[in-house]
Formats: sequence, C-alpha cells, structure tokens
Amino acid sequence: MNPAGLCEISCKFKSFDSKFLRLFTYSFRKFATKSKLIPSLDGVNEETNPKKHPGIMALKSIEVPNKLLLAITNVFKDQPISVLSKNAELLRNYLHSRKPPLESGQLRQLIGETGKLVEQEDGIDLTTLTDEEKAHLSKIRKSKVKKIVNQKVYNWSSIRYDDQSSRTYLLARSAAEFAVLFKVFSEIKLMYPNFSPKTLFDFGSGIGTVSWAAWNSWKTLKEYFCVDSSKEMLDLADLILRNGNLMNDHIINGVYFRQFLPSSQTLKYDLTVSAYSMMDLPSSKNRFETLLNLWNKSSGFLILIENGTKAGFEMINEARDFILEISRNDDAGAHVVSPCPHNFACPKIGLRKPCTFPVKYYTLPIGGERVARNEIFSYVVLKKGCHAAGEP
Ligand SMILES: C[S@@+](CC[C@H](N)C(=O)[O-])C[C@H]1O[C@@H](n2cnc3c(N)ncnc32)[C@H](O)[C@@H]1O
Repeated sequence: MNPAGLCEISCKFKSFDSKFLRLFTYSFRKFATKSKLIPSLDGVNEETNPKKHPGIMALKSIEVPNKLLLAITNVFKDQPISVLSKNAELLRNYLHSRKPPLESGQLRQLIGETGKLVEQEDGIDLTTLTDEEKAHLSKIRKSKVKKIVNQKVYNWSSIRYDDQSSRTYLLARSAAEFAVLFKVFSEIKLMYPNFSPKTLFDFGSGIGTVSWAAWNSWKTLKEYFCVDSSKEMLDLADLILRNGNLMNDHIINGVYFRQFLPSSQTLKYDLTVSAYSMMDLPSSKNRFETLLNLWNKSSGFLILIENGTKAGFEMINEARDFILEISRNDDAGAHVVSPCPHNFACPKIGLRKPCTFPVKYYTLPIGGERVARNEIFSYVVLKKGCHAAGEP
C-alpha cells in the first residue's frame, strides 16, 4: 500500500506522517459510524444479505482438539480451579461489556456541551455575583459537569495480562474463541478450497487460539508468527504448546512468539489475524496504525474478529471501512470476502441490531462438566486484490 495514495482521501498530504495520521484518524472516526466515504447500499436484499452469503455454514458444536485439551489440563494441573472458575466468569462478563475508549476530542466536546447545559439549568447571571461568588459557582458547576460526564462516559482501561489473568483468560475464553476461529477458517476453506496458506501472523495472540484453529484447518501452514505485548500471555501460550512442560517440544511446529509488532513490511503472510485484540488498543489512531501495519503484512487474507455486541460490530465495521478506503487508490486493492458479499457501506450501521453470527461450542471440561453454549461474534475477512471473475 502506498501511503501517499491516501492523500486524496483527506488533505493532500505528501507523506504518511503523524500529523497526517492524526487528521486522517479524526476524519475516519467521523466516517467510521456514518460510512460516508464508502459507497452506500440502500437496504439489504437477496444479493447483499450477509446471512445468505455462500460461505455461511452450520457446524456441529465445536470442541477444542484433544491434544490441546490435554495440554490445557496439564497447565491447570496444580491449580485450585474453583476460584479460577469464578474469576473466569467475571472476566467473561467484563470482556463482553467492553467498549472502545472515548477519543479525547469526543470527551472535550461532551464536557463543553454538558457545561452549557449545567449553566442553562442553574440560570445564574454571573454579572450579579462578586468575584468570590463567581469562583464558588464555577467550582460547583465543574463538579456537576464531572459527575454527569462520568455517568455518561464508558471508563475504558487497558487490561494488563499477568500470569494469573492470562490463566483466567485461558479458562474463560479459549473454547469459545477456538470455535469462532474454526468457523471463520472453515468458511474461507469452503470458499477457497485451493488456498493452501504457509504463513500466519497473529496480532494480540494471547493464549494462541488463532494458531490452534489455523493448525486444525490447514495442514500446509509452516510458520505462525504470534505477537502479544504481554510476556506472561506469551509464556502461557508457549507452555500450552509444550503440553504443560517446558522440556517438551511444541505440539505445533513453526510457532514463534514476539512481544512487539514488527514495523518491517518486507515479510508478508498468507493469513493475518487479529482476534479480540482491537478493543485493547487505547485510541482510534492506534487502531488505524495497527490495521495499516497488519494490512501491509498481508499477502492474502486479513481476518478481524470481535465480540458480537454493538461495540464489537462497530469496531469491525470501522476496520472494514478503513481497509477498503486506504486500498481504493492502491494498485493491489482489497475486497470483502465475508460475511458481506459486497464492498459497499454496511447497511446495518445505524440500525439497532448489529451484524453478528453464532457458533455452537463445548466449554472446557475443567472444573466441571463440558457444557454446550452459543457464542455470538462479529467479523470481517478482507482479501488483497480486486474481486476476480469466478471468485465466490
Ligand atoms: C483479549 S486478548 C485476545 C486473545 C487472543 N487473540 C487469543 O485468542 O487468545 C487481547 C490480547 O491483545 C494483547 N495486546 C493488547 N495490546 C497489544 C498491543 N499493542 N500489541 C500486541 N498485543 C497487544 C493483550 O496482551 C492480550 O493478550
């Protein structure tokens, strides 16, 4: 992707510098929810309905493969599970309720608007007050504004995954995330039966479910490059792959762990994935930088997955629009493979119901019987290049 090509979208900057990114980010925040720059589609019809997409399939309840289940059981071997199970439930609920952080511009705007409302409400004429009274009133107003804003604003904070919370995450999310990933990969396999990926890049790789599901889906994979900012998460992912014992070799060959996202774009990957990691990034600027980096690393499919909530869906849609937009003037181009059978703006944005998909799975039989559950997710699969004739 040639960054200079992006200039037409916003303000004719010559290079992709940080000032550009700030403005670019700002304009994208605006269009992210309104989808103005992507040609719009009026309503959903037979051709554009994502539920009628050729790759959509019904699968039986999905289970974590036996080898990995055994490894996870070994990892938990000496740990009291009852406390961990309670924490897992809490973490699951917390992650499900997560929303993106408010942008600083949005916060300033909200404070300004609330300030005006508070002034209107008390209706006090400042000209009638002494300096001392003015200072006192200003204090009261500020505290009222703070209280109202705090009630309205989602209090996003980053999650620091230490050893304990990484283990909690493993228990809370691995079975559901494995099922989601397995379903999305199965869809790609169905639509592109001749696709035989050799390399995979996983951003925010956590406990490694992306690698597990990809390994289970394509035997052609030779390299899995996993990036996660938490050393403890990487250590846990490594321990699982070693069957719970650091002396063992990896169950899956060719898995590499790194703590930082390489900025180099020389190496390209057949599959580039971010599963449930975008919500962890502190701003839209950060999300767009990361997406640009991931897109530049991709030679085939970019797969993005988030929770099947309004916030998760909006984040996926924001990313979808961003990639389509930056690829518009790029020779390589991009197109959406699934769930939408088109590149138009999502007709579901602004409607009350987000675009989500279900998958059935079995929970881990650890600390209790395995139970059948339903996981709801939002996702998009983008492919490098324009839609070719004969492609699904
Ligand atoms: C919710 S977890 C996703 C787990 C993972 N996809 C899996 O399937 O296990 C988000 C992960 O993103 C990681 N993360 C957050 N910010 C990151 C960053 N800037 N770079 C790399 N990893 C990051 C966190 O440490 C965490 O492990």
